[in-house]
Amino acid sequence: MSTTARNPAIDPATTTTDPLSLIDVDHVRFYVANAKQAAHFYAHTFGFQVAQVSDLTTGSRDEASYLLTQGNIRLILTSPLNKSHPAAEEIKLYGDGIKDLAFTVFDAEKAFEAAVKNGGEVAYEPTTESDETGSVTRSGIKTYGRVIHSFVSRTGAYDLPSVKKGGLIASNFRKVENYALNEYNKAHPCGLMFTDHLVGNVEKGKMNHWVKWYEDVLEFKMFMHFDDEDISTEYSALMSKVMASGNNLIKMPINEPADGKRKSQIQEYIDWHNGSPGIQHLAFRNDDQLESVAELRRRGVDFLYIPDDYYDEVWDRVSKMGWEIKEDHEKIKDLGILIDADHEGYLLQLFTKPLQDRPTLFFEIICRRGSQSFGKGNFKALFEALELEQERRGNL
Ligand code: FE2
Repeated sequence: MSTTARNPAIDPATTTTDPLSLIDVDHVRFYVANAKQAAHFYAHTFGFQVAQVSDLTTGSRDEASYLLTQGNIRLILTSPLNKSHPAAEEIKLYGDGIKDLAFTVFDAEKAFEAAVKNGGEVAYEPTTESDETGSVTRSGIKTYGRVIHSFVSRTGAYDLPSVKKGGLIASNFRKVENYALNEYNKAHPCGLMFTDHLVGNVEKGKMNHWVKWYEDVLEFKMFMHFDDEDISTEYSALMSKVMASGNNLIKMPINEPADGKRKSQIQEYIDWHNGSPGIQHLAFRNDDQLESVAELRRRGVDFLYIPDDYYDEVWDRVSKMGWEIKEDHEKIKDLGILIDADHEGYLLQLFTKPLQDRPTLFFEIICRRGSQSFGKGNFKALFEALELEQERRGNL
């Protein structure tokens, strides 16, 4: 692997004593109606290892959870096993989607105390599970809609380096053995390395409220912003501000709908998300966009369709910024990959269609060649493609 896609997780030994200093994205938890089947879907289509499970066989009587791994990405898919589990109600309201963006921290109790002191609302109090080999302490605060941020601190056999090497993520999980798809995925890698950014959609007029929340509660900083001049087509518009953690470990753009002739894609999301804000997309970083997208397409990932005429002007647009795209131009076009550039370099990106029947959560596949931006030059082409989809769904 080249060093250009270095994992941004920070080295604990070099970090400050700030309790809200984030070490890594510990995991992203989804609430899904059928975790067993969802695990197979994400493993098959995106190449994840179905690594660990916590269910009736491990003594978990209320929920079943599957840990999916790839590179430094850890997804936990959780389903309720009875109607009184909170996920049961949330699935009824929102369908499948992201519940928790969990951060590894040095001390989950101290991070929780700091976030609550900063005005964060409690999702759940600190709790520790331990055995003779180590411990996992977690706590949680609420952000927009149903989404929470857990703080997770780990010791012994459950520390992050051990988990990255395949150790149990928590004491109530067991390793999955003899899962045929895992062998196939090892032989046919999709190359996804880590979570690059995670985007939230909030209601009109609420973006600045949540920007301030991330500044106040989690001590994030604004990284960049886009207004409706940047992100509009003839018909629809949105506004976006990108929040970044102190060490740029994670970036969290926050979108709100803006007025246009027709319905904003952000409003479409909110309408189909029970009128409530939530996570719109999760972007996974790779270091070879052509290989990754080719493999994902072979597996049947349904990407947003970009018309051929996009490529009539894109090479000029990027070369005017002073960058030469080193990847094969014909292959980029054949694979339908989007390109953008800024003063720091260029990026390659592509977006899936929604991952469930509701037009809510989707994934982005992104490769950065110096650019730290989000593909502003693609917004127009992208949103025109999205509007076609919105129209097909009768939601424009
Ligand atoms: Fe994105």
